[in-house]
Amino acid sequence: MMLKPDMITKINVVKPGEVVFEEGESCLVVPCYYKDFPLESAVLGEEDEVALQALADREIITGKVKSYYYLPTPGRAYKGVLVLGLGASYEFNAETLRRCVGVATAALKRNRVQHVYFDVSRFEALPLEAFVEGLNLGQYRFDTYRQFDADNTTGSVRELTLIVDEDADTERIGRACQQSALISLAANGARHFANTAANDMTPETLALAAREFAAMEGSQCTCTVLERDQMAELGMNALLGVAKGGEEAPKLILLEYRHPDASRTAALVGKGVTFDSGGISLKPAGKMHEMKFDMCGAAAVLCTLMAVSHLKPAINVIGVIPAVTNMPGGRAQTPGDIVRAYNGKTIEVLNTDAEGRLILADALAYTIDKYDPDCIVDIATLTGAAVVALGHVAAAVLGNDDTVVNGLIASGEATGERLWRLPLWRDYEKQMEGSFADLSNIGPDREAGSITAAAFLKAFVGSTPWAHLDIAGTAYGVKNKPYLESKYATGFGVRLFTRWLLEQAENG
Ligand code: BES
Ligand code: MG
Ligand code: ZN
Repeated sequence: MMLKPDMITKINVVKPGEVVFEEGESCLVVPCYYKDFPLESAVLGEEDEVALQALADREIITGKVKSYYYLPTPGRAYKGVLVLGLGASYEFNAETLRRCVGVATAALKRNRVQHVYFDVSRFEALPLEAFVEGLNLGQYRFDTYRQFDADNTTGSVRELTLIVDEDADTERIGRACQQSALISLAANGARHFANTAANDMTPETLALAAREFAAMEGSQCTCTVLERDQMAELGMNALLGVAKGGEEAPKLILLEYRHPDASRTAALVGKGVTFDSGGISLKPAGKMHEMKFDMCGAAAVLCTLMAVSHLKPAINVIGVIPAVTNMPGGRAQTPGDIVRAYNGKTIEVLNTDAEGRLILADALAYTIDKYDPDCIVDIATLTGAAVVALGHVAAAVLGNDDTVVNGLIASGEATGERLWRLPLWRDYEKQMEGSFADLSNIGPDREAGSITAAAFLKAFVGSTPWAHLDIAGTAYGVKNKPYLESKYATGFGVRLFTRWLLEQAENG
């Protein structure tokens, strides 16, 4: 993956008797539920235990959720102890741990900790995968364009040693945590693609990245990129119409991951608008720069395939990325234009800023036609209305199949990438009928904007089990998750999709 490894590269799982603290920048992390003292640790030195208990007695250390206390311990085998507050045990879950770790990441960084020893020997039930994720996502920094030497100015944790109970299955824990480390690395990869400025992240760059990754040894992935001419021949005029205003050549990126024992094929389609100016229906200037993030769906699909190709679950996965820019220009598509999509349906383009659904329409119909997948899921920063409905807390999910939708919701809950379902009744589909064509690309007024967008997409999936994720609110600008720096893209979808695919592979 094209990333600097500012994250954990080594994970060890040991029993309390086997712990040897590495000399140098090491830190012992001891978890602590709210007001649950004395601290539970098998390796904490006696003097430190006394010192920390004194602080607990004075309520300086409380174990409150998202609180931590860092005690420097010069002269000890470890350089410091970090007491990690987990809050009340009855309210605790994996997402709590991700957030607590996210907050504590700042202290680890400030103290230049490179090796974390997490003593969970008396906390059997802690979801350690969430600890790994919180740390890896929390440590991510985007400094591609910064002049300073990143290696000199930032400390980051490179190694994690989990200290587990005598009876624990160290191999199983190690495997699970390695898997989480890899998945969070892929999520950070998606964040990296998305954070990259639009002048450097074009449809061409996305296609190159996909090609490069597929060419890597052992990827089990093949990559095909359809060019403008090929798309024209196939009749993908909805996608091509969007690309008309820009100078960047549109690409349809097709990634195929195949497993010899797979009995199912899932397809993922990610919106790859590398910049959305709105086109002739130009957006206001204020937040237009944020529209470099309009390819977050594409990044999620690409990096999910990266994770999958390392983890090798027994399921076939097709990743499809329609990649374009949406720009005004003398040759740009204009409001009122009518285009014929790949599946033959005609679309009246009443607003050129509703471009995501146009490129997804062709991508969905083509993917179903070409690969005949058992299910198809698209992911897109599709509507501002999704932000109005759910804020930055959950993405909207809609679809025509309860199994697919509910499976995604469950994976979202487990990964902290929450989804909330919106309805998709016929009434909404009616609202998308055109006056001069089969469909209009916008609904009446601004009512139910996320639903009408999904109702439009539904016209391109036929009877294939399908779900649509609208990640306009969760792809960036997220402020409630301390493990995700709010000015960065979140990589939303990578962890959710990967888990969902692994589960399908296991359950046949
Ligand atoms: N990329 C935008 C949606 C978006 C808005 C994402 C805000 C993230 C934050 C999409 O292409 C768009 O412009 N949608 C329009 C649709 C409308 C014209 C029907 C919108 O939401 O305003
Ligand atoms: Mg738009
Ligand atoms: Zn857009």
